[in-house]
Amino acid sequence: MKRVIINGANGYVASHFILELLERNYEIIALIRKNGGCSPEERMNKTLAEITGGHYRPSKNLKIYAYSLMEEDCAISPEHLKEIFSMPADYFHFAASLKYDAKSKEEIFRTNITGVENSIRMFSRHTLPGSRFFMVSTAYSCGRYNGLFKEVFYDNNEDIAGFRNYYEQSKRFAENVLRKHINENHLPGHAIRLSQVVGDSRTGVTKTDYGIFDFARRVHSLSHRHPNRTIRIKIDPEATQNLIAINTVVNHLVCMAETPELPVIVNMVSKKPVRSGYIIESLNRLLPIRLVPDNTIETADMDVYERIMSIGMSFTGAYAQNNLEFDTTNLDSISKISNMDEEAVFRMLEYFIRSLSKHKTLAPAVG
Ligand SMILES: NC(=O)c1ccc[n+]([C@@H]2O[C@H](COP(=O)([O-])OP(=O)(O)OC[C@H]3O[C@@H](n4cnc5c(N)ncnc54)[C@H](OP(=O)(O)O)[C@@H]3O)[C@@H](O)[C@H]2O)c1
Repeated sequence: MKRVIINGANGYVASHFILELLERNYEIIALIRKNGGCSPEERMNKTLAEITGGHYRPSKNLKIYAYSLMEEDCAISPEHLKEIFSMPADYFHFAASLKYDAKSKEEIFRTNITGVENSIRMFSRHTLPGSRFFMVSTAYSCGRYNGLFKEVFYDNNEDIAGFRNYYEQSKRFAENVLRKHINENHLPGHAIRLSQVVGDSRTGVTKTDYGIFDFARRVHSLSHRHPNRTIRIKIDPEATQNLIAINTVVNHLVCMAETPELPVIVNMVSKKPVRSGYIIESLNRLLPIRLVPDNTIETADMDVYERIMSIGMSFTGAYAQNNLEFDTTNLDSISKISNMDEEAVFRMLEYFIRSLSKHKTLAPAVG
């Protein structure tokens, strides 16, 4: 039985990956921090129950350990380290802060850079030959780079002006920590650069509220508090969003775990980016609102509702003007599956909005 070690295991992408690996009879070691009074076991089982609609039953192939990313050997006891690293394994580092704002800079850098360094050190100290280290990064470590973003390392030579936010910058810096360990210490390391991970392209089931779904949640809230308004938003309708379905990501990750010889960097992105205009049209169909993309609108010309939307778009707005291009030569050499199209995005938005309406979870920040 092949072993896969995963930190940040209760997160959105990692938990879907774990479910698939369990289906395929892998042995999983899940590292989860204690948080909010629940044990790591409770947290993992709760997440797996949530994403399977309550169908998950605890498996003997899933072993769960508490860890602390910032401490030496992740504060895992010597006995547990022995168990975790008792055979060669693929180690996936998923843990990250997905915050992006300037006031969280310290937390973002600590988690995403120091956390990766600590994780690599623990792996290098305890792992057996034949193991591999995978750092989950982001395609947006490209920052404001113009042109085709290749599957190679880029230098740390840009200050924050070269990025949309500190999250992007932290991931670029973390990739360079990985590069240093590969070059200087022969770390068998790989970087996986995800674009925006969305719901399941087959069913539309969407259990994330990140990126375009955060935007959809805000639009949902505004349209229910103030129905039938026309709202101009500063978006280029011809710009595209690179959305990759969670089932596609899981497929690609499984292919990586099953491929012996791998490239160092993989841009795990969609080959078919979706037009922002299509996302806007979909929300207009699904909600009592008329959103009008207007790339020229300035804050001074906005009415109060348009300003509320604009403030809520501080993250998504930074991605509303792009047509980013990613090289996928390495990805294509591992896996060719691609499931994203406009209908799939519509199904996801429909599912997401239906679940918002069901739970009446209106975003407090809007309206
Ligand atoms: N989702 C996307 O669209 C996307 C796009 C590009 C790249 N990525 C990358 O993919 C990875 C997984 O993302 P995701 O969307 O699945 O994120 P997520 O659901 O927010 O999960 C993040 C995980 O990291 C853990 N974590 C955060 N801070 C930590 C800390 N200080 N110490 C230990 N663990 C910590 C979280 O644990 P707690 O639950 O205890 O907080 C959680 O398990 C991340 O590296 C992310 O940067 C994601």
